[in-house]
Amino acid sequence: MKKKLVGALMCVAMTATMLAGCGNSSEPATAPAPAEPAAPAQTQAAAPAETTPAEAPAETQAAEPAASGDVVTVGFAQVGHESDWRAANTKNYQDTFSAANGYELSFVDCDNDHAVQIETVRGFIEQELDYICIAPIQSAGWDTVLQEAQDAGIPVLIVDRAVDADASLYTTALGCDMVAEGEAAGNWLAEYLNGEDANILVIEGSVGASATLGRTEGFNNIVAQNSNWTVLDSQSGDFTQAGGQEVMESFIKSYSDFNVVVCQNDNEAYGAMDAMDAAGITYGTDGDVIIISFDATHDGLQYTLDGKITCNVECNPLQAGFAEGVIKKLEAGESVDAWTLVEDEAFVAPGIESAYAVTMSQEVLDGRAY
Ligand code: AHR
Repeated sequence: MKKKLVGALMCVAMTATMLAGCGNSSEPATAPAPAEPAAPAQTQAAAPAETTPAEAPAETQAAEPAASGDVVTVGFAQVGHESDWRAANTKNYQDTFSAANGYELSFVDCDNDHAVQIETVRGFIEQELDYICIAPIQSAGWDTVLQEAQDAGIPVLIVDRAVDADASLYTTALGCDMVAEGEAAGNWLAEYLNGEDANILVIEGSVGASATLGRTEGFNNIVAQNSNWTVLDSQSGDFTQAGGQEVMESFIKSYSDFNVVVCQNDNEAYGAMDAMDAAGITYGTDGDVIIISFDATHDGLQYTLDGKITCNVECNPLQAGFAEGVIKKLEAGESVDAWTLVEDEAFVAPGIESAYAVTMSQEVLDGRAY
């Protein structure tokens, strides 16, 4: 439903707990930060350097383009607030889809609850919003509500993570290549170990999330190429610091002979480091255990610069500009790509040279936006 750009416009911030009858998480939803007044959008090229066409062509679902001066209403069903990455991603959406930029953003923190996320999307459909962005908590279980959005004529953007649904059910998808991230971590490890044995513990992300599935698949592709590597165990730490610590504490009780810990995001790595500190296990470039992490957020890269995390594979959270680029094209009645890749890179601790990663320095850290 198009609205006129008049008066003060608010970013509509709803929490998952406002959705009656949904959500049974023990951790209450955190109210998202209120819209920042007239914050400038992050500068981000709308068109990425590289795109990968999906099998099915994108369906252009531009409803009636907004007349000049109309407010574009956008619903964002966000995963939750589990990690520093997520906080950066949320802020990027709130900055980009701001009132100052001509949007009314309905933001919902779904608190990592799939049922809440489905009902959130249904709420956006009922409100007849112009566009719906979904960062899927899990990849399965989307067909019905995506069909409902399509029947209502509302374009849906699948952002950050992927869904296990026919591409004809949504307008476009954008995000990082999680399988490639897992392979980057594995390729770097093979280069670094140069033939040495690896006894590996993996702290996975949330169960059923494409970020977890993809990173696991990609890393295992490289494990399969190295016959002297053993994955001793692989458990979910739910992409949280507490989860990472809990899983690492349990690993330490069960395994004494490991030399690699793969944490599928930075927050899990912080928890794993706490657990190893408490157990007197040394890690990093001067220690016994190699830590690999994903996300490359500011604090994660500080630990990489400090030599504690040896390799950190980026997942770029600044994706809202890509979503806005799609919406602008649809508003103009143009077609959009089925899939937009958000590119990322990997970083390694000082003193390490790698064909797969950038060597960390203070300058690299200072040049980062998140
Ligand atoms: O989907 C992106 C992943 O989700 C990030 O790696 C993680 O930090 C977040 O929770």
